[in-house]
Amino acid sequence: MKKYRDHYFLKAKQEHYPARSVYKLKEINARFHLFRPGQKVLDLGAAPGSWCMGAAELVGEGGLVLGLDLRPAEVILPPQVRFMQGDIFDPSPEFAEALRACGPFDLVLSDMAPSTTGHRSTDQARSAALAFEALALARRCLIPGGAFVVKFFMGPDIQALAGELRVDFERVRAFKPQSSRSESMESFYIAAGYKGIREAASTTLKSPGT
Ligand SMILES: C[S@@+](CC[C@H](N)C(=O)[O-])C[C@H]1O[C@@H](n2cnc3c(N)ncnc32)[C@H](O)[C@@H]1O
Repeated sequence: MKKYRDHYFLKAKQEHYPARSVYKLKEINARFHLFRPGQKVLDLGAAPGSWCMGAAELVGEGGLVLGLDLRPAEVILPPQVRFMQGDIFDPSPEFAEALRACGPFDLVLSDMAPSTTGHRSTDQARSAALAFEALALARRCLIPGGAFVVKFFMGPDIQALAGELRVDFERVRAFKPQSSRSESMESFYIAAGYKGIREAASTTLKSPGT
């Protein structure tokens, strides 16, 4: 992967983070105040480990961060982080068990991104599929009032994602951190105030005669 030796790249090296992406998380938190000490956080797309490290600092030793990625972490992570390798589209029984044991979560983060092909609409569609999968998981394991941060590549599916988020969360904002390269098509939705799992209308209707 091409490394850009910009300000954030050098800062990450100096501060011993494995990737410059940690500064996006820090900017998101400075703007939206999502983290509190003691929280439980699910970090999807967690390798090489920068967001896990940033989240662990923000929740402190009394908090917990569960990370998932196709790839392994590239750093030794603090004790409050549990990092698992796996695919969000094909969750292992071990990951399902970790979700049960560690959750429910105050915050679900998804910085997942597909391997890019250079074909804009293909990359955008794959990014949208990851974002929708992260939302499906967030719906199952967030506490009411919890928050969801999700990366997406700009494109036509994004309005549908925003629409889904507005149904499930009280507040939804799009945000592009300064530390996200201007030429990158990535941006983030910050969704706060999870309303909780909605019962399907059909399950609340009684059949005639019952
Ligand atoms: C931008 S990187 C994440 C960087 C990370 N937040 C950090 O700060 O270290 C995007 C990650 O999404 C992961 N990813 C892509 N598809 C995935 C999938 N299906 N399941 C889990 N992780 C996935 C990639 O392996 C990659 O490590």
